Amino acid sequence: MTTVVVVGTQWGDEGKGKVTDYLASSADVVARYQGGNNAGHTIMIENKKYALTLIPSGIFSGNKTCVIGNGVVVNPQALVDEIAYVQNNGFSTEHLVISDRAHVIMPYHMLLDAWQEEQRGDTKIGTTRKGIGPAYVDKFGRSGIRMCDLVDEKNLEHTIRSVVQEKNKTFVGGYGSAPIQPEPLVEQCRAWAKILRPYVRDASVVLNDAIDNGAHVLCEGAQGVMLDVDHGTYPYVTSSNPIAGGVCTGLGIGPTRIDHVIGVAKAYTTRVGDGPFPTELNNEIAHQIRERGFEYGTVTGRPRRIGWIDTVVLRHARRVSGITGLSLNSLDVLSGLDEVRICTHYECDGVRIASYPARQEDVYACTPVYETLPGWTEDITGVRAFDQLPRTTQQYVHRVCALSHIPLAMFSVGRNREQTHLVQQLFSARPIGTHTSVG
Ligand code: IMP
Repeated sequence: MTTVVVVGTQWGDEGKGKVTDYLASSADVVARYQGGNNAGHTIMIENKKYALTLIPSGIFSGNKTCVIGNGVVVNPQALVDEIAYVQNNGFSTEHLVISDRAHVIMPYHMLLDAWQEEQRGDTKIGTTRKGIGPAYVDKFGRSGIRMCDLVDEKNLEHTIRSVVQEKNKTFVGGYGSAPIQPEPLVEQCRAWAKILRPYVRDASVVLNDAIDNGAHVLCEGAQGVMLDVDHGTYPYVTSSNPIAGGVCTGLGIGPTRIDHVIGVAKAYTTRVGDGPFPTELNNEIAHQIRERGFEYGTVTGRPRRIGWIDTVVLRHARRVSGITGLSLNSLDVLSGLDEVRICTHYECDGVRIASYPARQEDVYACTPVYETLPGWTEDITGVRAFDQLPRTTQQYVHRVCALSHIPLAMFSVGRNREQTHLVQQLFSARPIGTHTSVG
């Protein structure tokens, strides 16, 4: 049995879906541990594009148990739609498990998200307006509704009425808006519950039993380390913990059960939303990378900001997540550049800064310092092994790994499953065709 965690090392959109989808073929269970439908995973299977926001991308890999953990905030309508989407594409949702402790995003959370962003004005965070932040606020404020409440037919009406009564104090008193009406919300919740109830279970029991029985478990994070509420570029962050430690709280798995942590990075950097981005480019190279890499948000369609790879960020990600191997993705997107740059450290008033500052004002005051390497012109999308990459590409990858202090575990040269390649064996070997059944 092996437990592998896949974590984003930058500001999300590093290609975790692709890496998870690839590794899922060797796993028995795939589990998502945080975030909500703010995250978008795009997976290419046999030249067909699939997009998911909540269900682990392992759902496309056959008979896997796919878990939505307690650390995820669930928009029930989005999940109901996604279940239908998976089924309509010919895949089964029979092995989907939704944690009974996962918090529910209610329609009023989305309203609050939009209002709060508008009120922030120039200091807006650039949220996806999916209600993620307000749902986590209610979770930690102990006024949230969990999946176990949503599917509790007997007490649902009472739960909704008492929460709505509280919410209306803010909505009517604070924002001067019309009160939320409990009746339609109760009806809506009943309809969601009818579809979701069969999937709701104690996910921590499912996962720990699976590990005890020798299953290979793959834990999938959303967003990336730099969007982590504790270790990211606060306040320009999401409201959960994408770092590997989020697995323990978000799935109910102890830290001693984790074997490998794969940090996923693009060969360059992207960011959507506001906030500092030291290696950002606003030139023709950025334009070229954005168009070649289709760098537009999966959830919001916003053009992503583009920059060179930043090893200050990767070292930070390695430290806070205990990353054991790097998956360096989208190397093909850099083809055709005369030279490529790697940020090694920052400088501020002549002082060398080697680790990411806590205060955003300090980040703005920093200048990134680069190492410049020769680029490559070859089309590398058909490369199937590391030693088939052009010498300059290999040199670039080696340098990124050396500066980040992370050994290479995987790389990718395109969006398809066949364009992702493993360098380091992750799941322990077992006879081909044997899979551990998960109860
Ligand atoms: P929220 O998660 O919607 O509250 O947004 C907070 C910040 O995280 C914003 O900058 C979003 O653009 C960013 N964000 C949230 N989800 C993703 C993602 O999946 N990829 C990239 N950025 C994201």
